[in-house]
Order: sequence, then structure tokens, then C-alpha cells
Amino acid sequence: MSGDEERSPCKERPEDKTDPGASRHGNFMNYYQFHPAEERRVRQLPCGVWRSAHPDRKYVGLDVGCNAGDLTFVLHDFLETALSADQPKEIRLLGVDLDPILIERARERNPRPDRIIFECLDFLAEDCNRTLDEQLRRFEKSRFDVVFCFSVTMWIHLNHGDEGLVEFLRKACSVADMIVIEPQLWKCYRNASRRLRRSKGEDFPLLKTLKLTGDPAGHIDRILTEFCNFQRVTVTENNEWKRRLLIYART
Ligand SMILES: C[S@@+](CC[C@H](N)C(=O)[O-])C[C@H]1O[C@@H](n2cnc3c(N)ncnc32)[C@H](O)[C@@H]1O
Repeated sequence: MSGDEERSPCKERPEDKTDPGASRHGNFMNYYQFHPAEERRVRQLPCGVWRSAHPDRKYVGLDVGCNAGDLTFVLHDFLETALSADQPKEIRLLGVDLDPILIERARERNPRPDRIIFECLDFLAEDCNRTLDEQLRRFEKSRFDVVFCFSVTMWIHLNHGDEGLVEFLRKACSVADMIVIEPQLWKCYRNASRRLRRSKGEDFPLLKTLKLTGDPAGHIDRILTEFCNFQRVTVTENNEWKRRLLIYART
């Protein structure tokens, strides 16, 4: 991937049989080389909205599709600062990703193993529930205070179809008091498909069956508010990728 792709992650590349940006699940190995996780990924997050249902307990977050963990590390530091003003408390984060190599990397590079842990899990798989329940019990919580889903919904949608996207959001909401979603734009879907076809000679089989097309953020908003009973807290401005953060809370 080139430096240009950092500013435009969905940009089409010339035909390249070994395109490292061609992926089935978004499990890019060098993602953070091209999409640095520092400040500008979390700059859009507001500060005053991170309420906890249990102000006396630790603040616990889940990062779904955490890749090699870089953004999870930054989110930990962000929450520490954001919460310090009105409700100082210890933060615990669980990062999950379906790729075992990425999780291994995240564990090796974890600067706060006392506060951040990583598990290799397919969020839609059955055994994921058991692990999430175990972790919540450890934290003495029934739900996560916040669930982050940064740049993961497109991969779920492409691989599991419209129903899979709804299932994913329902499941994320079922374990969350708040949810933060950074949806990819529709043009990213087309580019992901094109790159997979060119590089691997295969496509996402469910792409042609999708009905929730054109405006992923709009569809996600409707699913969260109409099917998951969450209410919109805020939608941020576009970042430099033209992606917004959608923030919702349990009603
Ligand atoms: C494009 S990366 C985004 C990484 C990170 N969230 C960020 O925005 O910096 C998408 C990640 O989602 C993961 N992923 C895709 N489908 C998943 C699933 N069903 N369960 C868990 N992780 C998944 C991929 O392995 C990949 O690491």
C-alpha cells in the first residue's frame, strides 16, 4: 500500500496480483503503517458522553475487529483522559479479531497488559459469546460500557450479507451500553470487491444479494434505532477519509 492510500484507503490501485490491500476480512497485516492510529483516528470522538451505568466500577470497553491493536491502545489513552475530568476510574479494554497472527502481534506489542487484553474471536461465531461472558464476569459487569466498531462493518456486510450485518449490530448492542461505529462508504465496498477479484480471482459471494446498498451509515442508523432500541448520541463530522463516527446509547 502506498502513502496515498493512507489518505484514501478505498482508492483503487493499478492491477496488482499481490495487492496487500486485497483482503477478504480486512485483516491487513500492515494496516497501521498506512492508517496510523494516533490522534487523528480518535480526534473526532467527543469527550463528555462516556457515561457508565456503574460509576463505582471500572470502565470497560470492547474493540471489535482490533487488527494489531494500535487503535485499541490509543482508545485506552483517550478514555483515560476523557473520563478523568468527571468520573476518574480504571479502564479495561478487550480487543477481539478473527485473525490469530494479528492478535499475536497485538499481545506482543501491548504497552498496558494490565489494562488491555486481546482475544482471537470471530465476533459472529457461537463461541464468541462464551468468551465475552467470561470477560464481563471478570470485570463484574453485565455489559460493556462501550463497544467500538471501527472500519469493520463493511467486512461483516460483505461476508455475511444484510442479515449478517443486522445480526452483528444486534449482537454488539446486546453487550453494550454505548456503541461507536465508523462505517465504510459504499464506494469502499466496490473497491474491496474489485481488488479481491483482481488479486485473488474471487469475489464476495453475497455482494450481489445486498439490498442495504448505497448508504451504509444510513442503514446502520436505522438498524440501531429501529431494531436495537439504541438512540443516537451524536454523529461526528467527516474525518479525512470522509468517514463519520456514529455514536449511540442504550435507551
Ligand atoms: C480494516 S481493519 C480495522 C481495524 C481497526 N478496527 C481500525 O479501524 O483501526 C478490520 C478488522 O476487522 C477484523 N474482522 C473482520 N471480520 C471480523 C469478525 N467477524 N470478527 C472479528 N474481527 C473481524 C479483521 O480481521 C480486521 O483486522
